[in-house]
Amino acid sequence: MNNIGLNSKKVWEGFSKLTKKEKLERLVETGFLDPQCVVELQHGGTIKEELLETLIENPIGWFGIPLGVAVNFCIDKKHFIIPMVIEEHSVIAGLSKAAKFINLHGDLSTEILGKHAIGQIQFACLRDPVRFEKKINEQKEFFLHQVNQTVLSSLIKRGGGASDIIVRTIERPDKKIMGILHVLIDPSDAMGANRINQACEFLRELIEAHTHEEVTMCILSNLSDQKITAANAVIYDIDPILGKRIEEASLFAQIDPYRAATNNKGVMNGIDAVLIATGNDWRAVEAGVHAYAARNGQYSSITKWEMREGNLYGRLEAPIQLGTVGGVTQIHPIAKICLGILGITRADELARVVAAVGLIQNFAALNALVSDGIVNGHMKLHIKNLVLSVGAQKEEIPLLSQILIGKLEQTHCVNETDALEILKEIRQNT
Ligand code: HMG
Repeated sequence: MNNIGLNSKKVWEGFSKLTKKEKLERLVETGFLDPQCVVELQHGGTIKEELLETLIENPIGWFGIPLGVAVNFCIDKKHFIIPMVIEEHSVIAGLSKAAKFINLHGDLSTEILGKHAIGQIQFACLRDPVRFEKKINEQKEFFLHQVNQTVLSSLIKRGGGASDIIVRTIERPDKKIMGILHVLIDPSDAMGANRINQACEFLRELIEAHTHEEVTMCILSNLSDQKITAANAVIYDIDPILGKRIEEASLFAQIDPYRAATNNKGVMNGIDAVLIATGNDWRAVEAGVHAYAARNGQYSSITKWEMREGNLYGRLEAPIQLGTVGGVTQIHPIAKICLGILGITRADELARVVAAVGLIQNFAALNALVSDGIVNGHMKLHIKNLVLSVGAQKEEIPLLSQILIGKLEQTHCVNETDALEILKEIRQNT
């Protein structure tokens, strides 16, 4: 249903200044949102009680987190509206501003390298590591055939399935040898956790019988580095001072783990928000991304920005293991609406969007950090909360907000005490 009335460079001006009702109308008019979904969203996304009972154990209620949209994304020449579930100020605003800028002055593209998720089978102590490796390699095709014909048969029909088994050995602290098998599985459009675990547990007895070694556990790995999603951005003819400062900020995050952690937190602000909106397991992606960020022995940035011939180039590379079927993606009514807003049915396409969001979220933060600083934009938006929290009445809100913004611009700092004092003065003067 998407892409009505938009071409790759056309941007929406002033979307953020519309009311919520007008925003919903715009999304419906342009075909990004099904009119039937509006009612569901306006009622806070009412979810049936039966669903609550099936999702988790000992449920006692729902916890609401806001759902918003970032606009003006053009990824691989296709226009997207990005649904995001997040409780933090300025993430969606910063992302939308950055997406609009890149839409007008650059390009954003993605690629996927590899296609396999990893299932691990552990042999805590191998009796005969050489014989073990030989047996696995001799019987590999048989093991793969068996697992593909049974637990993975439905994946095979969708073009996925298991395609390789790799032997790894690690020397333990007691000098004995631990054996680990990596079963490489293409989970198609599912995140794959259940299927991969089932496949590994199915292989357990078969492999034990052929190798006479004891399997100690089976589980998927969240460091799915056999499938990397990359996003690339270029901003043409960027202000050279700004470009150079972003390059320096990026270098800081590449060589200093203290900065890398904060840089990657900013990236995950965007990534997690889309994963939650689409019903995906964001903890799995978080774990994989941070493990990947430390793959060279030191925790580093998962993004990189550099200036070349007057243009700023950015790249994000990360293992983004997610699904558009399975889990709660199709059960949770709001996750279904969010996938509809994205117009996405395939997991690979969602991974591309998620990677692009992560990269542009990083650009938004770096752009603010090396120019204005992060506080101004963040606090401008936070002032809305501050005026409500000190009990300002409707007619007092505009003046109190204006004075607080002025103070913020002068001092780079406002807090609840300031808001209370200013409100007291306003009341005394009227
Ligand atoms: P501004 O220039 O004052 O905003 O920026 P504006 O009012 O001129 O509007 C420009 C555009 O910004 C709008 O376009 C929107 O796209 C967006 P329009 O809709 O008018 O065509 N925008 C908004 N969108 C939705 N709701 C809003 C809104 N306001 C503007 N209320 C802004 C203001 C906050 C965007 C800017 O100061 C900014 O980008 N700041 C950076 C914010 C940011 O990156 N926050 C991320 C969270 S902090 C974080 O990531 C952790 C960190 O530690 C990571 C790290 O260290 O790397 C920093």
